[in-house]
Amino acid sequence: MIKLKRVAVALAALGMISAQAAEVEVLHWWTSGGEAKSAAELKRMIEAKGDKWKDFAVAGGGGENAMTVLKSRVVSGKAPTAAQVKGPSIQEWGAEGTLASLDSVAKAGEWDKLLPGVVANVMKYKGSYVAVPVNVHRVNWMWVNPEVFKKAGADVPKTWADFPAAAEKIQKAGFIAVAHGGQPWQDFTVFESVVLGVGGAQFYNDALVKLDQKALTSPTMEKAFDTFRTVRKYIDKDAANRDWNLATAMVINGKAAMQFMGDWAKGEFTAAGKVPGKDYLCLAAPGTDKSFTFNIDSFIVFKQSAADAAKGQADFANAVMSPEFQEVFNLNKGSIPVRSGVSLAKFDDCAKLSAKDFADTAKSGGLVPSIAHQMAVPAATTGAIQDVVTSFFNSNESSKDAVKKLASAAKTK
Ligand code: GAL
Repeated sequence: MIKLKRVAVALAALGMISAQAAEVEVLHWWTSGGEAKSAAELKRMIEAKGDKWKDFAVAGGGGENAMTVLKSRVVSGKAPTAAQVKGPSIQEWGAEGTLASLDSVAKAGEWDKLLPGVVANVMKYKGSYVAVPVNVHRVNWMWVNPEVFKKAGADVPKTWADFPAAAEKIQKAGFIAVAHGGQPWQDFTVFESVVLGVGGAQFYNDALVKLDQKALTSPTMEKAFDTFRTVRKYIDKDAANRDWNLATAMVINGKAAMQFMGDWAKGEFTAAGKVPGKDYLCLAAPGTDKSFTFNIDSFIVFKQSAADAAKGQADFANAVMSPEFQEVFNLNKGSIPVRSGVSLAKFDDCAKLSAKDFADTAKSGGLVPSIAHQMAVPAATTGAIQDVVTSFFNSNESSKDAVKKLASAAKTK
């Protein structure tokens, strides 16, 4: 041990290792084209601070696989420096007592002034910052290939009532109407946009955030399940287990007309060199243009035994909150900056619309947390509701039965 120290001191004196270099191991699930480009920017900035980036990528959209791997790493005493965890789960991890504090970094960086109050609260456990936010994603989008709609002579649906006629025309013209990947989190992503479009933001909030039993079992929820079933008619037979970015590629390549997916899909269009308004359209999912389902990516930091860990975590958090990172990362990711003071000049019209709608819906009450992306209710409840949604989507169960199961799943703690 002592000998090792001596060697380190000697090497440092020779300038061969920097006493300031910390290893920063970051768990995330950003492995698609657009996501990987975004993660690479984070790596670049960490390395620019003289730290060593250790990539801990766990493939799987929506992060379910990543969360399983994270739990086993923490249980075996090998928590990474930082991990992509968001929403109410931050509180759950806080209660485990394994998180480090970012308070001194947050204080020096005046995070309380830079972040919207609702966001800052989610990043804190018992008043202390334990997480740093990356972005604001909007989930209730519809990604459209205008060429396909044109060839099919179909109008882009503005409401869910318009949807079947458009989808029918597209199918008859030989295209796939809805690009989808049959994975539970993708089914759930479509479902929440259907609920929002059918019932409105107030209903969404009562049912999927407050978990009000009356709303969950209401005729409106039944109608949402019926509509959700209609969407299934228009996905292709090979959808099972397809990754979300491959579904996006179908819209990009003109095989499919539309996809209901959060704006990480825009990262794929961007990576493919496509221009919004020309090659593709970003429109609110049917009936949801006055609402905004938000999904905020963030990283929690874990207590570490290495002496230089705090330095690595401070470098990491400072990098994430810097205007430079917030701009370049979100340009690639499809999201918008989460902190104030970042110019949107370089962002496209989809991002500008997102920023405007985020601000407007925060005032109107149309701003709601995405349940499919773990922003609304605890992880166990999210999982139980997702199971109901996905099993309905993949069976011929009646909407009447589904709402009963939904209401009972909502009681899962
Ligand atoms: C979301 C996450 C996004 C995006 C997406 C697909 O849950 O917030 O950043 O990566 O999953 O993997």
